[in-house]
Amino acid sequence: SAELNPAVLPLDWLLGTWESDEPGEGSFPSIAPFRYNETLHFSHVGQPVINFMFNAFHAESKKPLHRECGFIRLQPGTNRVAFIIAQNSGLVEIEEGELTGHQITLQSQAMARTSFAKEPHVREISRFFQLRPDGRLEQTVSMATENHPLTQHLHITYRRAS
Ligand code: HEM
Repeated sequence: SAELNPAVLPLDWLLGTWESDEPGEGSFPSIAPFRYNETLHFSHVGQPVINFMFNAFHAESKKPLHRECGFIRLQPGTNRVAFIIAQNSGLVEIEEGELTGHQITLQSQAMARTSFAKEPHVREISRFFQLRPDGRLEQTVSMATENHPLTQHLHITYRRAS
C-alpha cells in the first residue's frame, strides 16, 4: 500500500476504521431525539488527500440512515483544513476550518443540493472532531435550517476498530 503523503501527515491520527462505542445522540428542535450507530473509514492512496466514508444506522432498528463520503485536504504550510463532502440526502458541501493538534473545527463554506431535496433545507453546518486522550474519537455536528438557527444535531464518540 502507498506511503502516506507528507502533506497529510498531520491527519494520520484519523486513518483507519472507527465504530461508535455507544450510540450517538441525535437531536434538533423540530425532531424527536434519536440514537444511532456509525462507522467511519479514513484511508489514503498516497495522494495529498484523505478519503473518508461515514455510514450511520438507527441504533434500534439497525436500518441504514445517513451516509456521507468525501475528501480531506490541507492547505500546504498552514493548519487550514477542507472537507469536500457528498451526503446521501442530496446535499454536497465544502467545510473549512482549522486543524489544531488532534482537533478539527469546521464551518460550511458552500452548499448545493438536488432540486428535489427534502425540506427543510440546511443553511449552515459546523463540526468539531477531536481525538481524546483516552483514544476515543468524538464528533459534534450543529446545523442551521431555514426554520432554526445553528443548533446541535449530533454528538457521538467512536473507538478504533482497525
Ligand atoms: C433530521 C440534516 C446527519 C439522522 C434531519 C433534518 C435535517 C438533517 C435538515 C431535518 C430537520 C427538521 O425536520 O427540522 C443532517 C445533516 C447531517 C445529518 C446536514 C450531516 C452533516 C445525520 C446523521 C444521522 C441523522 C449522521 C444518523 C442517523 C437524522 C434523523 C432525523 C434527521 C433520524 C429525523 C428524521 C428525519 O427527518 O429523517 N437531519 N443530518 N442525521 N436526521 Fe440528520
